[in-house]
Amino acid sequence: MNAMDIMEAMRARHSVRSYTARPIEGETLEALTKLIDECNRESGLHIQLVRNEPMAFSGAMAHYGKFSGVKNYLALVGKKSPKLDELCGYYGEKLVLAAQALGLNTCWVGLTFKKIPDAFRVENGEKLVIVIAVGYGATQGATRKSKTASDVSRAENAPEWFAKGVEAALLAPTAVNQQKFFLTLHGDKVSARAGLGFFSKVDLGIVKYHFELGSGRNASVWL
Ligand SMILES: Cc1cc2nc3c(=O)[nH]c(=O)nc-3n(C[C@H](O)[C@H](O)[C@H](O)COP(=O)(O)O)c2cc1C
Repeated sequence: MNAMDIMEAMRARHSVRSYTARPIEGETLEALTKLIDECNRESGLHIQLVRNEPMAFSGAMAHYGKFSGVKNYLALVGKKSPKLDELCGYYGEKLVLAAQALGLNTCWVGLTFKKIPDAFRVENGEKLVIVIAVGYGATQGATRKSKTASDVSRAENAPEWFAKGVEAALLAPTAVNQQKFFLTLHGDKVSARAGLGFFSKVDLGIVKYHFELGSGRNASVWL
């Protein structure tokens, strides 16, 4: 997948909570599975694609969350550590944008689903952090309200790469659209802080992935 496709995917992505019955199969399934394997190798996470499992999104919680037709999801599992939430955010969003570029839709889901123990594996010392619903959306989702660059960042004479990174960060999904992160420029490095809030460390990983894509810098940009 090339960088242009991913940037386009970042602009086109919105959370989608309603899905058609079309299964994920063929080349799309292969590409997604390959990327999951790569992410797991690179990060040490144990991300699993659960397919044709309607139970997690069929109860009262899913109804409350306005989900329908969800049968596939990514289970973001990994070894317990203080960095686990952020790592899940970063690699989960990498999969979200790749899925979007493959013609799929997604929604991060922290609360409004039911854990189905037999659907995926959680080894000793690991935990399930969050899931991401994935499939062919009944819609492409909708644009939502966003904070502005000055709400979420600080820089003196911001270079273009920083401004582009912040712009990309503002497109990142965050729990309850809280956008509680803060990005500060220090020379040619950036500090990224999570605010206080529900799943804000997962949000931070998601935001960092977006910032890297938008700014064209790699993880060495972080202070
Ligand atoms: C960490 C995280 C947890 C989320 N949990 C839920 C959830 O439990 N239920 C839900 O309906 N949406 C959930 N969302 C989706 C957000 O509400 C959504 O990303 C946000 O409103 C921004 O909209 P957008 O994704 O269309 O840009 C979650 C998003 C993130 C990043």
